[in-house]
Amino acid sequence: MHLKKREQFRSRLGVILAIASSAVGLGNVWRFPYIAGSNGGALFIVLYILCLLFIGLPILMTELSIGRGAHKSLGHAMDDLQPAGSKWHYFKYFIVLGAILICGYYPVIIGWVIYYFVGLFDGFLLDPSKTSKEVFSDFVTNKPADALLCTYVAVFFCAACSWLGIKKGIERTTKPMMILLLLFLVLLCGYAISLPNAEKGLEKFFVPELTDLSLSKIGSILHAALGQVFFTLGCGVGIIMAYASYMGKKKTIVSESLIVCGIDTFVAILAGVMIFAACYSQGIGVDAGVSLVFQSMVEIFKHMPMGQFFGVSFFFLLFIAAITSIISVFESVVSFGIDCFNISRKKSVLYVSIINVVITVPAVYSFSTFSNVSFFGQDIITFEDFVSSNIFMVLGSLLFAVFCYSRYGWGINNYMAEINEGHGVKLPNFFRNYLRYVIPIFILIVFVTGIMS
Ligand code: PHE
Repeated sequence: MHLKKREQFRSRLGVILAIASSAVGLGNVWRFPYIAGSNGGALFIVLYILCLLFIGLPILMTELSIGRGAHKSLGHAMDDLQPAGSKWHYFKYFIVLGAILICGYYPVIIGWVIYYFVGLFDGFLLDPSKTSKEVFSDFVTNKPADALLCTYVAVFFCAACSWLGIKKGIERTTKPMMILLLLFLVLLCGYAISLPNAEKGLEKFFVPELTDLSLSKIGSILHAALGQVFFTLGCGVGIIMAYASYMGKKKTIVSESLIVCGIDTFVAILAGVMIFAACYSQGIGVDAGVSLVFQSMVEIFKHMPMGQFFGVSFFFLLFIAAITSIISVFESVVSFGIDCFNISRKKSVLYVSIINVVITVPAVYSFSTFSNVSFFGQDIITFEDFVSSNIFMVLGSLLFAVFCYSRYGWGINNYMAEINEGHGVKLPNFFRNYLRYVIPIFILIVFVTGIMS
């Protein structure tokens, strides 16, 4: 049944950039800067890096090891690795639901990014008679058809990449896009810090505020940092596992994971520098939350020198970051279909595209036709985001951790052998107990505090 030789990425750079492109997304360019801004700047950054290394990295490695170890995606990986007679594989249906839920709202936000890219390019979003807030609410409430069209452009883009396969589609798209993203980011960052008053923003971003630092404040910064680690790595929903299933074994998983985390953090910090410098140069706060990108930043583009050029470039960068993330989610559902139901790639792409076309509709109309619909006081998009990041990603990560570390699952010996296979950095054996006892407890803490918040 599963004798077909599995496709692999062409090069090591291809694998690393594909996984990094999944991690680097809206979370880095939009979420990281404002969370860092509202959680004490530099102190947040230090705690975030510690959380990423000691908690994020092991979690990332569980999914990589399962995918590479089985050479299968979520659709069949646990079936192959679990001890005979156990029932771990039933969890895959729960996990794939998390990925499908992300497909329901993330392309909608990418649709907004596409609309803003076009609107800034054309100039119609820069109308001086309206504030950016009015423009944004007019768009989401009165122009759902435009939003739907832009969302479908994003879905079509993912479908085309997946249709062409790993080497010709995913690798060929994500590799140059990631390189372009890094280039654009460095250029825009350079421009932003050359603006007058930019140094005030840099000071806010990099100099820690250590006055009235209490234990509860450190606790809440830690919570924000852990939440960001989960969001940016996108673990627990089988995405990383799908890419890992096409990976070769020349380098250790530890090495590859360290590089991915390094690229992800580099992008987040540069994006923070860019946004803080641009906001402070125009005297606008960075704590606007969700509206930061679509309202505050657009207001800034209206007034800064070369604002239209900066704005178009900024939304282009955001588009690359976001589309490469959703390509990975789309591919994970496609490869689930291939491995689980033994259907061809093209058939699976077709089914997943149809599912996407349907499930994005509620989120597109969440501020217009469905503006009365709310779940626990949240609109549809916010609720889908909450459930996928606080429930599916966290519980999925816990499940993979227990599967890899406990003797009732794949087991710590197999896991250690898999992550250390190949050349490069290896994880010493004394980390075993840390992985088995500390990591699951941390994930549980993130789950409970996430739900309570
Ligand atoms: N990692 C993505 C980001 O930083 C978020 C994401 C998570 C996207 C899971 C897809 C799936 O934006």
